[in-house]
Amino acid sequence: MAGIAPEVQRIITLSSGKSRGSNLLALHSYFTDEQLPLVVHRAIFTSAKAPAIPLCTERGIPSVVIGAKDMAIFEAALATMVERENIALIALCGFMKQLSKDFIVNIKIPILNIHPALLPKYGGKDMYGMNVHRQVLDNHELVSGATIHRVDPLYDHGEIIAQITTDISQCHSAEEIAAKVLKVEHQIYGPAIYAEIRTHKAQNSH
Ligand code: GRF
Repeated sequence: MAGIAPEVQRIITLSSGKSRGSNLLALHSYFTDEQLPLVVHRAIFTSAKAPAIPLCTERGIPSVVIGAKDMAIFEAALATMVERENIALIALCGFMKQLSKDFIVNIKIPILNIHPALLPKYGGKDMYGMNVHRQVLDNHELVSGATIHRVDPLYDHGEIIAQITTDISQCHSAEEIAAKVLKVEHQIYGPAIYAEIRTHKAQNSH
């Protein structure tokens, strides 16, 4: 007797107009290669200039631009999409805005972000992008990594749900650290999202 195929869970991703889309494409590849019942339903960008948009089109990932100058309008559009299109999780992939506390609390689905270093030490105000790697280099760390955490209305201080480390003892610049960290970001984000969706579903089925 044939088994019943698991219901496909939809996620949406949020990215800024500067996003290269590396994490977003890595997620899509992971879900596809592993044949998981998970799909990037829509990649949302805050500007049509994002270099990742043509890459999404090439890979068959539907993308949409929603301006985020007014966060209330942006969040209202997201909330409508989440409800109407039955979205299971929101994954931030190079999103440069803060979601409001009201949105995070009321949306009732997990919202995850990936941070390019080991939190909590390398989090907080201005700790994003290359700033983080420069700080890690200046502190002569031998190890960096990536942290998956729940989105928090302040900075990157949300609950940590997964971390992965990478040896940076041979790295001599912030750029070399960034390249090593990006590789491990790609390894950890997809599995962490899949695990989070299964946990959330199990909790809500009781
Ligand atoms: C990644 O380094 C991630 O840690 C951070 O934003 C970057 C996104 O990269 N949250 P990309 O622009 O999507 O390639």
